[in-house]
Amino acid sequence: MIELIDIWKSYDERPIIRGLSLTVQRGEKISIIGPSGCGKSTLLRLILGLHRPDSGQIIVDGQDITKMSTEALKDVRARIGMLFQSAALFDSMTVGGNVAFPLEETGGFAAGEIETIVAEKLDMVEMAGAEEKDPAELSGGQRKRVGLARALARSPEVMLYDEPTTGLDPILSTNIENLIVKLNDQLHVTSIIVTHQISTILRVSDKIYMMQDGQLMPPQTPETIGSAGNLYTTFINGGL
Ligand SMILES: Nc1ncnc2c1ncn2[C@@H]1O[C@H](COP(=O)(O)OP(=O)(O)O)[C@@H](O)[C@H]1O
Ligand SMILES: [Mg+2]
Repeated sequence: MIELIDIWKSYDERPIIRGLSLTVQRGEKISIIGPSGCGKSTLLRLILGLHRPDSGQIIVDGQDITKMSTEALKDVRARIGMLFQSAALFDSMTVGGNVAFPLEETGGFAAGEIETIVAEKLDMVEMAGAEEKDPAELSGGQRKRVGLARALARSPEVMLYDEPTTGLDPILSTNIENLIVKLNDQLHVTSIIVTHQISTILRVSDKIYMMQDGQLMPPQTPETIGSAGNLYTTFINGGL
């Protein structure tokens, strides 16, 4: 379980996250929506422990990560995977090298074990056998999938997705959405998805949260969002 309690975060004295609270149960899939610049990526970086909040608690499996040493945080971070918005692949490494990177960082694997895991994760995202390819040879959708394989390398319990389908055509988008649902169904991975793609919101979420004024509004579901009669409905009708 992940629990955020009264989180505040400013950049250059400009408050972005303002008293935000959120509870995500194990195995749940939630989407976070809201206008560009409202703080969605910041929220994911806080959960991943890449940034620390100015105040508030972030409890991951019973431990407050905001108080942890950088060293202790590494162990928590190993259980959380993040698919960055741009996929953020290392262009100087092969596809296989990219997926192996988090495993090498963790260390302690026997010879051959990393290759097996890399092959398994690439297979999971339907990129089997792509180990020797260069990221530069890949299409946008393939880059996202390799980014996803890398995020999955350490078999995380929690996955954070930052705009996983933005900029992809409808077929590729559906493909990524199916993968998110599959990972959640088969591996019970808790999923937090930041997106403004309506198909993604409707297809992958148990609950949908709108970020407004640095907080999250009470959630809707794919069933209720169209008739909520508030900002959620405006959003889903394309007016936000
Ligand atoms: N590292 C940073 N330093 C200063 N300002 C930042 C930083 N990261 C984000 N911001 C600012 O915080 C606001 C929220 O950014 P972000 O979380 O990326 O929004 P979103 O993902 O919802 O589009 C934006 O105004 C952005 O310019
Ligand atoms: Mg963002």
